[in-house]
Amino acid sequence: MLSVRRFMEESLPPVSAPRPAPQTSRVLLRRLMREHVRQYWPRFALAVLMMALVAASTAALAELIRPVLDGVFTNKDRDLLWQIGGLIMLAFLVKGLAGYGESVVMNTTGQRIISDIQQRLFGHVVHADLAFFQSQATGTLVSRFTHDVGLMRNLVSSTLTGLGKDVLGVIFLVAVMVRQDWVLTLVAFVGFPTAIIPIARLGKRMRRVSANTQVEMGQFTTLLEQVFMGARHVKSYAMEGYETGRAKTLIDRLQRLIAKASRVRAISSPVMETLGGVAIVGVILYGGTQVIDGSRTTGTFFSFITALLLAYEPIKRLANLNVSMQEGLAAADRVFTLIDTPPAIADAPDTPALAVTRGEVRFEGARFHYTDPNAPQLAGLDLVIPAGQKVALVGPSGAGKSTILNLIPRFYDVTAGSILIDGQNVRRVTLASLRRAIGLVSQEVSLFDDSVRANIAYGRPEASEAEIIQAARDAAAHDFITELPQGYDTVVGEFGVKLSGGQRQRLSIARAMLKNAPILLLDEATSALDTESERLVQAALDRLMQGRTVLVIAHRLSTVVDADLIYVLERGQVVERGSHADLLAKTGLYARLHALQFAEPVAL
Ligand SMILES: Nc1ncnc2c1ncn2[C@@H]1O[C@H](COP(=O)(O)OP(=O)(O)OP(=O)(O)O)[C@@H](O)[C@H]1O
Ligand SMILES: [Mg+2]
Repeated sequence: MLSVRRFMEESLPPVSAPRPAPQTSRVLLRRLMREHVRQYWPRFALAVLMMALVAASTAALAELIRPVLDGVFTNKDRDLLWQIGGLIMLAFLVKGLAGYGESVVMNTTGQRIISDIQQRLFGHVVHADLAFFQSQATGTLVSRFTHDVGLMRNLVSSTLTGLGKDVLGVIFLVAVMVRQDWVLTLVAFVGFPTAIIPIARLGKRMRRVSANTQVEMGQFTTLLEQVFMGARHVKSYAMEGYETGRAKTLIDRLQRLIAKASRVRAISSPVMETLGGVAIVGVILYGGTQVIDGSRTTGTFFSFITALLLAYEPIKRLANLNVSMQEGLAAADRVFTLIDTPPAIADAPDTPALAVTRGEVRFEGARFHYTDPNAPQLAGLDLVIPAGQKVALVGPSGAGKSTILNLIPRFYDVTAGSILIDGQNVRRVTLASLRRAIGLVSQEVSLFDDSVRANIAYGRPEASEAEIIQAARDAAAHDFITELPQGYDTVVGEFGVKLSGGQRQRLSIARAMLKNAPILLLDEATSALDTESERLVQAALDRLMQGRTVLVIAHRLSTVVDADLIYVLERGQVVERGSHADLLAKTGLYARLHALQFAEPVAL
């Protein structure tokens, strides 16, 4: 025992990745049962019935060895020979059919449970805060849905199935053994309890190895994603070699962990083989002596040995069960942890819907920080965006313009102070009504892997064809859309037709047109468009802004010049405010920024 333990210690150096305290196996299993398995109990009952049939027919085979030896071989009974042949055939047939049924039922049920979990997980994650997505590597999140859920599938459909099948199998076979001779049965199993302690320890090891594998797997997925998405940059900076090296490091580490996992899984094998050897030798010595003495028939002895040999494999698997279960439980732990993390930004109970009357947005003493409370991005900001007016935010990079924009639809929540829309605190109205009232056109346009039509109608799937086309026309997008291979049915996005930067922007403007929200937030694109494209986008934006309250982070000169009000920001503070002409006259920060940014390309 000592040597086995030492081998375990040596092959598995303790790993020190920080993790939240893992749930105990029992708690996790119970939760999995309660929340996902229990509802399928009729299917499981059916499966258990089938398993019992398999176990019973296997036991019957061991039992039938006795009449074969005693009746047929020793007593030369020819009738019995045919009867036994028939019974053996029947036992195999039952075993085969029940085994098939059990495996079909268990696999389909396992698959159902897994899709339930995937849907539940997605339904939860899709509501998570923006901050959550920014704090998680995408790869890690993706591997929750793929790798972890796969491990949970193994847990449900093979490990738990194995448990049922093997426990039943062993019970039936041990019954056969006890029927032949209970003393001999004791002789056979006397050594097995000694295996319990090392095997329980292995389970713990396995949980840890699995947790580390998961961390590496997440990093690897993230690397793949970054490299594939940023292929253009990898190439233009000739970083293929560097990325290959990074991938090699990660793959090597992953390989080492997986090898470690297989070692842990395999280590119970020598323990069990030794115990199996002891059992069989003990039975042969003790039982054989009795056969020689004539106190036992050859038939009982062989029937017993057959049952023992047949029971040996399921016993070995059961010994390993804890270890293989740990991988699935570690995955279940991670998945449940994710499901249990509530979004910080959510509706309070009995929250009323936002009622936009005029469309005024007001910041009152708004404080906000992303990570460091001692270095807030906004330290008490007061700002009014009067109803129906066009207000521009300008200021140096990092001044907090995008931050201010993000607070209005509650992508983040202020830490103190408030944001009011027509006098209603955005935190005291439902998120859905708040976000319905706000149109957002941002720098990076997200197109979904879907038709142009669906991309425009995103958020308003019930929009009519006429409305969609009108929105596209207003966004100066209709003409290029009709020139696409399948017009409005053309699939754009990751796997579809690629659009130019200006085209993508006009699609997102069309989307906002169709949404027709009273308040519009605009984070103007900084990337240079060519003059023609710029003109089209600008004209589309002008149409979009009509009749709405608009807050725009301005990069285009024209936007700033005709804004009703301009706030000049620096380090989260409003340092100047007024119209373009007022601010130029002040010769302050605005005038300086203006001279820097806007003077060259366009003459005023
Ligand atoms: N997700 C984030 N987590 C932590 N800090 C952030 C995050 N986003 C922005 N910041 C920080 O907040 C400050 C304000 O950033 P913000 O994006 O609002 O600037 P900006 O005025 O929009 O600048 P730009 O003109 O370059 O877009 C910056 O110092 C930035 O480093
Ligand atoms: Mg910004």
